Parts: sequence; structure tokens; C-alpha cells
Amino acid sequence: MAILKIARMGHPVLRRPAAPVKDPADPVVPRLVADMIETLEDSGGIGLAAPQVHVPLRVVIFMVPGTRSEDGGAGEVPLTILINPEIEILGDEMAEQVEGCLSLPDMIGVVPRANHIRYRGLGLDGQPVVREAKGYHARVVQHECDHLDGVLYPMRMRDLSTFGYVEELRKGLRGGADGHKAEEGERS
Ligand code: NI
Repeated sequence: MAILKIARMGHPVLRRPAAPVKDPADPVVPRLVADMIETLEDSGGIGLAAPQVHVPLRVVIFMVPGTRSEDGGAGEVPLTILINPEIEILGDEMAEQVEGCLSLPDMIGVVPRANHIRYRGLGLDGQPVVREAKGYHARVVQHECDHLDGVLYPMRMRDLSTFGYVEELRKGLRGGADGHKAEEGERS
């Protein structure tokens, strides 16, 4: 296992669509996932997509901390590995919340996302994973899958005045009227 270098916004690997994993049983896949898990743990983030570690394949990992269970989502979600994930948006309800990203260190922004989705992909064992997700859980999955299509969260933002350095925004957002806490911008 190894801690991998994380690509930052502007690197070409983050801007192009990643390729599907042709054979999930290829030993290269569990090795990649093991390194991604170690890299995520080291970073303190909650999600990571393979292109962020310079591997242009459709693999994401994520988890939802228990502190997030209050937002109408499914509660704590253990570390999940998705190979070749797909997202289906359910309903037209959108939600806006602060996001961060390991590829944009020290920055956060308010991003609109679909509030209710169904996602599917393959687990490391090659078995299908199919789940419905709401709230923060749905947000994290959309953020990670966007990485597989060369999309970073600022490209989803409607109001770039909410985009900036976490240290600065935390001053402005603390107790702010818009109800967002800068602490919500977990990195993924
Ligand atoms: Ni990210």
C-alpha cells in the first residue's frame, strides 16, 4: 500500500473523462483501491476518485460520517467502493451546501446538487451495489462521480461569491444568515 499524490485543479487528469474498468477482477483494481483508501485516510477527506490520484479509471471511494445523519440522508455510510458507478436522479429537488475537495486544498464553495438519487456500481467483490441516497450521502456520491467526467465542484456552482478560502469564509459564515457553516465543507 502507498499514499498517493493528489492531483490539484488544473491538472489534465482531472479534466478528462475516465475510462471504465474493463475487468473488475484484474488485480490492479484491488491494489488501486487499497492505495486510495490509505490516501483518503491520510488526507482526512471523506471521498476520493481515481483520477485524483492520477489514475484515469472509473473508481470512487467514499464514506459518510455519522455526524451527517441529521440531514435527512440515510445516516452513517461505511466506506464504500464503486467501480464503474452510475447515477440516476430521482425527482427534481435540489439542495445547496458547502463542499470542499482534496484537489482544491483549503477552498470551499456552495454547490447545488440533486437531493435524491439512486446509484449503482460494482463492489470490489464484483457484486453489484445499488442504493438510494438523499441529502449529504447523495451529494458525496455526485461529487465523486463528477470527478470521473472531468467535473470539479466550482463548475457546478451558481454563485461564485460563495467560493473561496475556507479560513476566510469561516469568518464570514460563522453565524451567517445563510445558514451554512464552513465546517460543512468536508473534502472529497
Ligand atoms: Ni473532490
